[in-house]
Amino acid sequence: MHHFKYRENALFCEDVSIQDISAKIGTPFYLYSYATLKRHFQVFDAAFEDVSKLICYSAKANSNLAVLKIFADLGCGLDIVSGGELYRGLMAGFSPDRIVYSGVGKRADEIDYALETDILMFNVESPVELELINRRAASLRKRAPVAIRVNPDVDPKTHPYISTGLKKNKFGIDTDAAIESYRMAGSLEHVDVVGIDCHIGSQITETKPFEAALKSLKNLIIELKQMGTDIKYLDMGGGLGITYADEKPPPLSEYAATMTQQLKGMDLKLILEPGRVLVGNAGILVAKVLYRKSGETKNFVIVDAGMNDLLRPTLYNAFHAIEPVVNSNANQIVADVVGPICESSDFLAVDRNIFNVKSGDLLAIMSAGAYGYVMSSNYCSRLRVAEVMVKDDRFHVIKTRENYEDLVRGESLPPFLEV
Ligand code: LLP
Repeated sequence: MHHFKYRENALFCEDVSIQDISAKIGTPFYLYSYATLKRHFQVFDAAFEDVSKLICYSAKANSNLAVLKIFADLGCGLDIVSGGELYRGLMAGFSPDRIVYSGVGKRADEIDYALETDILMFNVESPVELELINRRAASLRKRAPVAIRVNPDVDPKTHPYISTGLKKNKFGIDTDAAIESYRMAGSLEHVDVVGIDCHIGSQITETKPFEAALKSLKNLIIELKQMGTDIKYLDMGGGLGITYADEKPPPLSEYAATMTQQLKGMDLKLILEPGRVLVGNAGILVAKVLYRKSGETKNFVIVDAGMNDLLRPTLYNAFHAIEPVVNSNANQIVADVVGPICESSDFLAVDRNIFNVKSGDLLAIMSAGAYGYVMSSNYCSRLRVAEVMVKDDRFHVIKTRENYEDLVRGESLPPFLEV
């Protein structure tokens, strides 16, 4: 359910014409719908109303301050993977006792920052990290609340680049070794064991892998209890997929039931770290057709957004639907929709059935709210695009388009090159 709909032939975001936004701020830009973001959180939250839970939005999916603030205001927590995400989260108003911190490569300064702000829990991914957290907590005279991120060796049946819960992945600690890590954590003076955690992957479209992971963690929790270690928080990570093309992810009720049924009788607080499912279909990327060009075997639609703006098609061969902002019901053609970058990997769509566009037409690249802007770069010295949020009949620029000064900010010439 989202708020990008045609009125007559023009695509609107809530009550604002996307063509009007383009006329005022130019292209390309990311566009998010406030109502969709809010609704997605509320529906997710309601699906878990029967259990004691904390939903920690995964900041990495879209970390614009305005997006974060919406979730913070709705009482959501935050899942972070860097000091930068902690900074953003605090700035957006998330209460530190609702912030969980995952990631295989936490630096000492990032650990200090999280300890100083008293976050809810570190999801620890290796024994050496555990030792470092203990040492940093000692020097700051703090106690570090930790969960062990367990790698349950479950196949999430998703793209290999975004599967994280298999033995061959770098994430977490193998189930067999987890007990040993808990033993170690129990012996450390400045660490409090409070939870257990896993995150098996992203864009998962079946419930089975979640169920398998939960079963495996449940067994560990029972074993830990026998050892005298009580677990307060069970963090099942994020990973629920969305529909980009014809994927059929389970309805939220089914996903929630999978988790909650197994949790019956266990005195635990469930933590979830949804990212994509909250923001993915709440955002689009708007681009303009620059040129049409036909090779001997291909039609190309060259647009003003490229792989530096939306990397997903290039990196994962991901599919994003492309719709006309003004639907003129023109004939269809088959074309590659490509950007201006000097690489053949710079495409938004390959061999796509697309309406017969011409220079100047606006295109909406759909489902771009998650892992869109956050994965953009300045490659080819291209300026990062603007981000816009619509609420009702008004739009607000929530990140200005970069300019050439932004591009060279922080760069300087060493003395031997100065004139
Ligand atoms: N928790 C942890 C520890 C994670 O690593 C992730 C995502 C999430 C939660 C949120 O997962 P979600 O609910 O969004 O699936 N760039 C890729 C996705 C990478 C996901 C990385 N981790 C993409 O564009 O598909």
